[in-house]
Amino acid sequence: MTIGRRALLTGGAAAGLGAAAAAGAALSRRSDGPVVPVAATTTGTGTDTGTRTIAFHGPRQAGVTDEPQAHGAFVAFTLAKDVDRAALGRMLRLLTDDASRLTRGEPALADTEADLAVLPAGLTVTFGFGPGLYRAAGLPSPVTDLPSFTIDRLQDRWSGGDLLLQICADDALTVTHAQRMMIKDARPFGSVRWVQRGFRRSPGVQAAEFTQRNVLGQLDGTANPKDAARDTAVWNADHSTQLVVRRIRAEIETWDLLSVGDKENSVGRRMTSGAPFTGVAEHDEPDFTAVDEGGLPVMPDFAHVTRAHVTDPQLKILRRPYNYDEAPDSSGRPDSGLVFASYQADTARQFLPIQRRLAEKDLLNEWTTPIGSAVFAVPPGCSEGGWIGEHLLS
Ligand code: HEM
Repeated sequence: MTIGRRALLTGGAAAGLGAAAAAGAALSRRSDGPVVPVAATTTGTGTDTGTRTIAFHGPRQAGVTDEPQAHGAFVAFTLAKDVDRAALGRMLRLLTDDASRLTRGEPALADTEADLAVLPAGLTVTFGFGPGLYRAAGLPSPVTDLPSFTIDRLQDRWSGGDLLLQICADDALTVTHAQRMMIKDARPFGSVRWVQRGFRRSPGVQAAEFTQRNVLGQLDGTANPKDAARDTAVWNADHSTQLVVRRIRAEIETWDLLSVGDKENSVGRRMTSGAPFTGVAEHDEPDFTAVDEGGLPVMPDFAHVTRAHVTDPQLKILRRPYNYDEAPDSSGRPDSGLVFASYQADTARQFLPIQRRLAEKDLLNEWTTPIGSAVFAVPPGCSEGGWIGEHLLS
């Protein structure tokens, strides 16, 4: 008996698991957590992942509060010296046109590989404007680079940027094609500063309701704000938002030496279930006031979650990270980590205080190193016939 992929994906957690259980799929109940699918035995042959589209046009840009797709490319550009407000308008008209076609599954104008455009696989292209773009336009910038933190080991090759395209889809070839087309059209206006590619679980691998693991094996995304709280955290009244991209190397070699208990202490949550130390299930609210027999806080004060936690919805951030995993060095040492991306209405108000607290004290810092950093304003979306940035530049 086979389980339809659609059932696992769309049936809701309970229904999906019910179907899986009924079909005898391999499920396991871990001692400290919920039932998890250990091997989804799907043989679905549906191709709806490839043909899925996410609307490009609308008051808000796509690719922000949508469920993150499996593949992402963050492409940052440095504008050419002679690019002024008029040139920015020409560039953004062109790139908006590309994005609107490609996200519909249509070739870009003068697409040299039109066949590669036909499977959009949930493609989104999200535009971010760095401080340099506002300078070129002669306008005040709503964003500035982050201050430096003692934990930072930033490299220019992963930092800064005047324009960002966040290109995401559930298929790597789709992302590659969109990236190639858009870089080609941006070329007269600037140069590629950096590209960071990342990945998450592929569609169909686990039900959408399950939190994903990152390359460190942690459930990552549990406490992200949802629904109305998410919208409060992310969107300004004019439908703009802001994006921080930090390349954070994972020190896998030393992380691998830790016991499970030590790994859990760094975050304050269980590795397998993701439950906070004060709870039993992943989504139990951590209790930061609980103390053990010795009078010590059950959620350690140095743990990542304790340091990062905020209760005010106006101060939360929406994390939308991707994993990266580049070729290891010649002795086999991994080059892995997170392309940490977070969206928030106001970086100075929301992101910065959290990052400051984490830089000051967070046990997880022992095994993570920020090596790149960039901040972008994400302007509102546009309607058909309009272009991203139009309200600002015309
Ligand atoms: C490689 C770097 C990082 C790793 C591996 C990591 C991992 C985690 C994990 C495992 C959790 C607990 C589960 C969850 O709620 O998602 C978490 C929570 C969180 N992280 Fe990180 N994180 C990293 C960097 C950052 C950075 C740079 C920030 C922001 C400056 C941040 C902000 C948060 C927040 C706000 C939470 C939720 C806290 C709560 O309210 O419970 N993280 N992170």
